Amino acid sequence: MSKVRILNEGIIKELLDIKNVIEVVKQVYTLKNSNQADLFPIITHIFEPGKADMDIKAGHLKGEANVFGLKLVSWFGENIKKGLPDVIGTIMVFDGRTGIPLGILSAEHITCMRTGSAGAIGSKYLARKDSENLLMVGAGHQAFFQIAAGLTVLNNIKKVTVYDPINYKFAVDFCNKVKLRLKNEILLRYKDDKIYSEKLAKKFGITFVATDDIEKSTGQADIIVTATPSRKPLIKREWVKKGTHFTCIGSDMEGKQEIDEN
Ligand SMILES: NC(=O)c1ccc[n+]([C@@H]2O[C@H](COP(=O)([O-])OP(=O)(O)OC[C@H]3O[C@@H](n4cnc5c(N)ncnc54)[C@H](O)[C@@H]3O)[C@@H](O)[C@H]2O)c1
Repeated sequence: MSKVRILNEGIIKELLDIKNVIEVVKQVYTLKNSNQADLFPIITHIFEPGKADMDIKAGHLKGEANVFGLKLVSWFGENIKKGLPDVIGTIMVFDGRTGIPLGILSAEHITCMRTGSAGAIGSKYLARKDSENLLMVGAGHQAFFQIAAGLTVLNNIKKVTVYDPINYKFAVDFCNKVKLRLKNEILLRYKDDKIYSEKLAKKFGITFVATDDIEKSTGQADIIVTATPSRKPLIKREWVKKGTHFTCIGSDMEGKQEIDEN
């Protein structure tokens, strides 16, 4: 019987770097497109609306890797008051030839990096190449990774505007901290690669600004990324300029909605 590897959050943070994760996520999309990867139906459960829910996402990567597995992520909003994380998750990986468990992994950082990468890949291939203004709607966990991965793959972004639907101060606070986080959590990973790290530092050195005017910011945006648990549209169709690209990350379950359905 093989040994089961257990990777905690600390080890995963050491192992993953955004450039690599973006490449891996891209490869998995390609495998999915060529029927070498299957997704199983998602299971979602709401324990208490607006307070606690969870989902289980699972799949099978065929080919050489031949592994299957699942990720259970739960959100318990009240945890913050108890000094506990609100989003928490675990991944289990199994051998696709024998069913034998291969690993148990902490899922929080993997989810952030994977989802940031997925958003970035969408913008890279679907947004206009000359896109300069990115509007980030939501200023939580995902916002940072959407911005970090987005700036990694996009080449012409000059300004990121951040809007928090709940409290303008969250967006201000996010903008005050984002450059230091980009440096410490993303850039330092590439300190031994001078050319790449200088290129990335230039991309991260742009303007970050908080807004409380979502209508005006929508009208100026070339790319809009939404990462909120909203259940009603935050952006109206008539505010959007022609050719704007949308990446809607938050609306990942029935009942969630971030943009005008029209
Ligand atoms: N598509 C995916 O694969 C995927 C992956 C991870 C997270 N998500 C979803 O993305 C969303 C954001 O995740 P996160 O980890 O950044 O959450 P978070 O709690 O860290 O941040 C949420 C942001 O939305 C704002 N917000 C809170 N309640 C809101 C409401 N009712 N209406 C509008 N805005 C509200 C908050 O102020 C904050 O800016 C969640 O809904 C999460 O389930 C999706």
